[in-house]
Amino acid sequence: MKIIVAKDPKQAGMKGHEIFADALNNGAQVFGLATGSTPLTTYEQIANSQLDFSDRLSINLDEYKGISPDNDQSYQYFMDKNLFSKKAFKHSYLPNGLATDDAAEIKRYDQVIAENPIDLQLLGLGLNGHIGFNEPGTSFDGGTHVVDLTESTINANSRFFDNIDDVPKQAYSMGIGSIMKSKKILLEAYGEKKADIVAKMIEGPVTEDVPASVLQNHPDVVVILDEASASKLS
Ligand code: F6R
Repeated sequence: MKIIVAKDPKQAGMKGHEIFADALNNGAQVFGLATGSTPLTTYEQIANSQLDFSDRLSINLDEYKGISPDNDQSYQYFMDKNLFSKKAFKHSYLPNGLATDDAAEIKRYDQVIAENPIDLQLLGLGLNGHIGFNEPGTSFDGGTHVVDLTESTINANSRFFDNIDDVPKQAYSMGIGSIMKSKKILLEAYGEKKADIVAKMIEGPVTEDVPASVLQNHPDVVVILDEASASKLS
């Protein structure tokens, strides 16, 4: 793992942008994308850059189940607002949160990933170590699946909703097996609240109890931290 410690999320976003730029310039075709607060500074830098993704593909990690793409809490809406409206890809794939046949949607998304191997996958880090919505205990080998979100994740995500009861309880998520097949992985994590889980991810044992610890087994991972999230590394 290569660890980069930036001063703050803004500086970290500049580093994130550089990694996207390098991948693009080196011919990466497929970019795996994440939502949440963390990638916003990277997306802002990309949105304000000259980088051209119009002949490249993007594949998002996850989507809530049961909300429509135009709902302002959907991940499709988030991506449109924060990136795609400013920097369009040739095609952008997300799980369909309104799918009624889980097995068919899982098969479709796994096929999308299999047909378009991910060159660079961007990840955030959940407070409980989740990547995508792969909560603690998720197998390291799996593909796309329906996830029952944990209380920790529902609480953390309630900040985006008017009421905690409005937070969806399930999501579709790319599996850890698929994430690990990405050629290169960029994980970003900022803020003091993430310091404990960052230390476990990087310095703790590789265990399904800390899903992100699996990244210790990947040959090409860059972790971008800020000073606060790096503060508990030895
Ligand atoms: C989002 C995702 C999640 C987030 C994680 C951190 O697509 O897959 O794993 O990356 O929950 O969220 P933030 O960045 O809001 O702290």
